[in-house]
Amino acid sequence: MVDYVIREATPEDSEQIIIHNDSIANEPHNGITRGAGECISLEDERAYLAASLASDNSLFLVAVQPTGKVIGVAGLQGGRRKATRHSGGVGISVDREWRDKGVGSALLRHMIEWAKTSNTITRIELEVMTHNERAIHVYEKLGFKLEGKRLAAMYKDGQYIDIYVMGLLLFNYPLPE
Ligand SMILES: CC(C)(COP(=O)(O)OP(=O)(O)OC[C@H]1O[C@@H](n2cnc3c(N)ncnc32)[C@H](O)[C@@H]1OP(=O)(O)O)[C@@H](O)C(=O)NCCC(=O)NCCS
Repeated sequence: MVDYVIREATPEDSEQIIIHNDSIANEPHNGITRGAGECISLEDERAYLAASLASDNSLFLVAVQPTGKVIGVAGLQGGRRKATRHSGGVGISVDREWRDKGVGSALLRHMIEWAKTSNTITRIELEVMTHNERAIHVYEKLGFKLEGKRLAAMYKDGQYIDIYVMGLLLFNYPLPE
């Protein structure tokens, strides 16, 4: 049974989002940039969510249970310059015990549908560690294309990690052969 909804986050979700983010950050070999102990304060989280709510080219989604517990998050941060306002960068994570149950795909689908009607975002982009096979599978399933590889772009757990750059264009663009 699906006992969660996906909706835009408000500053009132900040505490639950921090609990979720910290649990992912503390996972060994997590697929995200943040590591253990790299915390965001409640005040900063609240300010970030308020700014996202007020923005026309950013979105922060939560998958939230009736209790208020946040089981997944997906953020789209649009560019701040005129030249990059159309392009939004994605970050996403789902609680460990909720993975492989469709939550991540549902969050991304919701985000893509929002972007299509946003009148601002026409490109969605992300970076993913090359060994993060589950995440890459989900992104490709939803139409993201591999655009490049950044060698040793990250250093985590004592080793360099290569990163794929992936993008999803929401309009027809003459892609190179
Ligand atoms: C990546 C993540 C957001 C995906 O969310 P999720 O809720 O687990 O994803 P879903 O359940 O919607 O889909 C998982 C899919 O990956 C597939 N999968 C699982 N493990 C896989 C693997 N090792 N290789 C390829 N595919 C895999 C599942 O079979 C499923 O495929 P389907 O949708 O075709 O049936 C989530 O796993 C997560 O938070 N991981 C840790 C943090 C992270 O890596 N974030 C992304 C940073 S770029």
